[in-house]
Amino acid sequence: MTRIVVLTGAGISAESGVPTFRDADGLWEGHDVEDVATPEAFERDPDTVLAFYDERRRALASVVPHAAHRALARLEKAIGADLLVVTQNVDDLHERAGSRRLVHMHGELRRALCVACGARPAWKGDLIDRPACPACGERMLRPDVVWFGEMPYELDRIEQSVVACDVFVSIGTSGAVYPAAGYAALASAFGARTVELNLEPSDALIPFDDARTGLASELVPQWVEEIIGAGLSAGR
Ligand code: OAD
Repeated sequence: MTRIVVLTGAGISAESGVPTFRDADGLWEGHDVEDVATPEAFERDPDTVLAFYDERRRALASVVPHAAHRALARLEKAIGADLLVVTQNVDDLHERAGSRRLVHMHGELRRALCVACGARPAWKGDLIDRPACPACGERMLRPDVVWFGEMPYELDRIEQSVVACDVFVSIGTSGAVYPAAGYAALASAFGARTVELNLEPSDALIPFDDARTGLASELVPQWVEEIIGAGLSAGR
């Protein structure tokens, strides 16, 4: 069987209305990323950081997955355990489209992290009012998102899948943030074919074997149909 790892970034959710990080003006919803996405920012001004992520979490209610998210869920139905989707996105559009074999390496907006006990409860409301942790009762919940300087989630599982895959596909990511930005080169070094589906060529370390530019909503369903249609050999 062909083992496939798909890495997704903000570009796959752009057409759902979730803003990307680096496209417009280098700001994330009007903020310098350093002011809202670092442990230092949280220590300095927790209210601003909590309010920022509360707003992002609320905004998820008004967006829906599109054809690219759905195509990846279709691919999972077709090949099951041979697919792993690794997303850098903190939105929940992949799971709402039906993906289950999914790693949120940068965390999830719809999860909180208890600074006191380490619990990671599912969370839909706000955190600004310092609600109690359902596990320990302390009022020390923060967003369960990985900030700059923190360790992304499930790196061992991701790296094992990347070195073992036959096809590595990068979708809607600029290749600016490590370790995710290094996965295509790692996969290639271990013999995988690499594919990029992005609005524009990214800052990749190595050239992709197959680089396609355009909208995720068009490129991803097309690529998935090729893979499924060719009995999973078209990606080779
Ligand atoms: P970026 O904003 O850096 O890159 C988005 C990429 O998507 C760009 O290369 C765009 O060209 C492309 N893109 C935009 N619209 C698209 C569309 N409709 N179809 C296809 N591609 C499109 O976002 P990421 O690479 O995801 O980390 O950023 C990586 C990480 O940097 C984020 O996870 C976040 C951020 O700081 C943390 O918060 C730790």
